[in-house]
Amino acid sequence: MVVYMRCFFYFDQLQRILLLCFCLGLVSACTHNSKEPRNTVEYEDLTDNHELASGQNGLSFVLTELQEKNQLPSYQKLTIKKDPLYGKKKIFKGFYLRQLLDSMVDYKKFQPLQSQVMFICSDGYTSSIELTEVLNKNPFVVVQDLSSPDGGKWEKIKQQNGKMVSPEPFYMVWEQESATDVRKYPWPYNLVTIDIIPNQLAYGKAYPKDSKLYGDGFYLFKRNCMSCHNIHNVGGSLGPSLTSPRHVTDYWKHDELLAFIKDPTTFRPNAKMPSSRHLTDKDLKEIIKYLEHIKIQK
Ligand code: HEC
Repeated sequence: MVVYMRCFFYFDQLQRILLLCFCLGLVSACTHNSKEPRNTVEYEDLTDNHELASGQNGLSFVLTELQEKNQLPSYQKLTIKKDPLYGKKKIFKGFYLRQLLDSMVDYKKFQPLQSQVMFICSDGYTSSIELTEVLNKNPFVVVQDLSSPDGGKWEKIKQQNGKMVSPEPFYMVWEQESATDVRKYPWPYNLVTIDIIPNQLAYGKAYPKDSKLYGDGFYLFKRNCMSCHNIHNVGGSLGPSLTSPRHVTDYWKHDELLAFIKDPTTFRPNAKMPSSRHLTDKDLKEIIKYLEHIKIQK
């Protein structure tokens, strides 16, 4: 599951933007020696295909750089009862992400429900979650594994392909049991950079302008589907685009679409798409409502 997330939770367009931001972050970190730890990134300069209101910037935290400059919060110890990537209890040293953000972010600039926190790893893997979840559940950024069987080093994580990887330089974990589902909460390892980006900037045309009416469907889609499917070119490519050249709700009847999403094997015996039995019919209806809406929002 974890490897699958790493491979496919991938936004083509977004990746390009983030890569640029990452480089920009590094460049700004290398070229000026200011005491100001915040690297402000002018996203709108980099994304000519996104329609943005002026002044909507993102923020980028290059953790390795902050660590070098001793600008990370002071470290403490944390026990995770059952780490989903190790499958056992782990003891870590690190800091709560909120401590870092509180010292550097002016939240008035970001609406927590309308902003994404992106986690960018050294191999380009990117995952994200709403800022509001980060503020409420306060994940912990690990700088050292205190429960490694071979002393000072990090215990390696086993990927699904059997490859063992060391999670350094940073690994992010969640203390709450409600956040141990890796399909819903990112547990990024090899973490290097954390960005905060307004949703519209992060998701461009896939983001519903009327987020009150279609926001639930969008978030469900983002968490469960976007890693494989793209909407107006935003999202993954393992599965077919759901908007081009023809929009999926044009040629699927509502009820059948719902049945297909719930369990594709009832339509195709060897479907590569996983079933969505963990979602309720209400969730699936929200997703379809979002899909129907996003067709007309150009
Ligand atoms: C692991 C990747 C993956 C995920 C996650 C995924 N899908 Fe799919 N989806 C596919 C693939 C691949 C296909 C093509 C048919 C097949 O091989 O199963 C597909 C087909 C579809 C189709 C049919 C498209 C057509 O034109 O016939 C729809 C609709 C769809 N997916 C919607 C969704 C929704 C909604 C979600 C989230 C609840 C979702 N998918 C999650 C991979 C995925």
